[in-house]
Formats: sequence, structure tokens, C-alpha cells
Amino acid sequence: MKGKLESLVDKNNLPAHIVIIMDGNGRWAKKKNLGRISGHREGMKSVRAVVKGAKELGVRHITLYAFSAQNWKRPKVEVDALMELLKHYLVNESDKLIENGISLNAIGRLWELPKNVYEVLTETIDRTKSCNELTLTLALSYGGREEIIDGIKEIISKGNIAPEDINQHNFSQFLYTNDLPEPDLLIRTSGEMRLSNFMLWQLAYTEIYVTKTLWPNFRKQHLIKAILNYQKRERRFGLTGEQVKKRDVI
Ligand code: IPE
Ligand code: IPE
Ligand code: MG
Repeated sequence: MKGKLESLVDKNNLPAHIVIIMDGNGRWAKKKNLGRISGHREGMKSVRAVVKGAKELGVRHITLYAFSAQNWKRPKVEVDALMELLKHYLVNESDKLIENGISLNAIGRLWELPKNVYEVLTETIDRTKSCNELTLTLALSYGGREEIIDGIKEIISKGNIAPEDINQHNFSQFLYTNDLPEPDLLIRTSGEMRLSNFMLWQLAYTEIYVTKTLWPNFRKQHLIKAILNYQKRERRFGLTGEQVKKRDVI
């Protein structure tokens, strides 16, 4: 049954692509006098709930920032635990993803992942590739600056495009996100007001929603609140409010 909050969501104005900086696992654990890894484990419950919730709401694309290029510098025990949790998620969730019509995708310097994680990741991507209701993209070993640099290398070495012909459209085809729509809504949990090297190119006109809720406490209701907030905004893309209203009428 649909909750009261969910019934307020305008299905004709859903963000097509929601991206989330899942932050606050460590602080959640600290508050409870637990180790950081317990926070990451608890955060996996939020991942399941939010992916399921997004699917039920009719969102078509969701991208989760799960591990940044900079997160490799964390203590080895934490990095190892995060990689184990990721592997477990992929192994355990694979069937459920297929049942729910969810295709898995990943962006980032995936070749830097441990071999066993990389293998289950590509296997799950392959197993779910014909699912077409929701695309779940995991950003892993991901950095926005790294992505732009990798894109520049690709366009120079394989692009076959004269420098004067490079434009935003053809350059964006060389980013990891080439087959994804631009993000409409960015959610960051735990109250931090920064991008932390996430989707620097893609977020140009994305609506930003920051909540104090720590990631392990984030559930479908919080996602709905973020979407309701998004639906109250006027996206102007550099135009005047009047121009936007006229375009709406046309
Ligand atoms: C987000 O939670 C998870 C990852 C970055 C992998 P954090 O681990 O950053 O939690 P805080 O920010 O220390 O609370
Ligand atoms: C961003 O969170 C990375 C992920 C959520 C995976 P961080 O916790 O690493 O970001 P900073 O260090 O607070 O900027
Ligand atoms: Mg953090």
C-alpha cells in the first residue's frame, strides 16, 4: 500500500536520474559506540531499501557513490571490509536485481578493484543486462577529476575528432556516464555541503538536496522527501523565470 507521503509524489515530474553521495556511515557507528565497519554494514540495508524504493516510485536511473578514488587512502582494514561488503552485496543481490528488472552498471576506475570484486561485478552486470526497468549504477574507485582526465585521454587517442570540433556533446560521450541521462537530483546524506569529487561534469545543472540524516538511517521515506523537495523547484538552466514558464506552456 502507498503511504501518505508517496501519494504526494507527482509521477509526471519524477527525476529521471537520481545520484546519491551515501555519507555518514562512520559517524552513525561512532554514535552507537561501534566500529566504522558496522556503519558500512548497516549502510548496505539503506542501499537495498533505496534501490527498491526508487524502483517502486518509477525512477529510471539511480547512481550511488559507493567508493571514491580517494577512499583507497583509508586504513587497509576499512578498505578490505568495504570490498568484502561490495562483493557480498553483488553475490546476494544478483537474483533479486533480475526479479525486479534492475540492471547493474558501474562507473569509475574499475580496473583498480581487487580481481575477485571486479569479476563478480562484471558477472552481475552481464547477468542483469537485459533488465530495463531501473538502472542501478555504482560509482566505484570513482573520481570526477579522474573521469575527466580519462575522457581527455580517450578523446585524444581514439576520438578521431579535430580539436576545433570538440564540444560538450561529443566530449561527454567519452565520460564513464556516456549512456546515462544527466542527473536531475543529487542527494547527499550526513549534512556535508560538498561534492567530494563526484560527477563534476555531470552535476552542472543538477538540483542539490542535502539531508542531515546519516546514510544508515536513510530509507524510502527520506527518498520520497527529497523527491518532493525537488518537485517544488524551478529549474531555469540560465533562463529567466518568465522564459521557463512560457516554455512550460508551449
Ligand atoms: C560513507 O560513509 C561511505 C564511504 C565513503 C565509503 P563514511 O565512511 O564516509 O562515513 P563518515 O563520513 O566517516 O561518517
Ligand atoms: C564521499 O564521501 C565518497 C563516498 C560517499 C563514496 P567521503 O566521506 O569520502 O567524503 P569527504 O572525505 O567527507 O569529502
Ligand atoms: Mg564520509
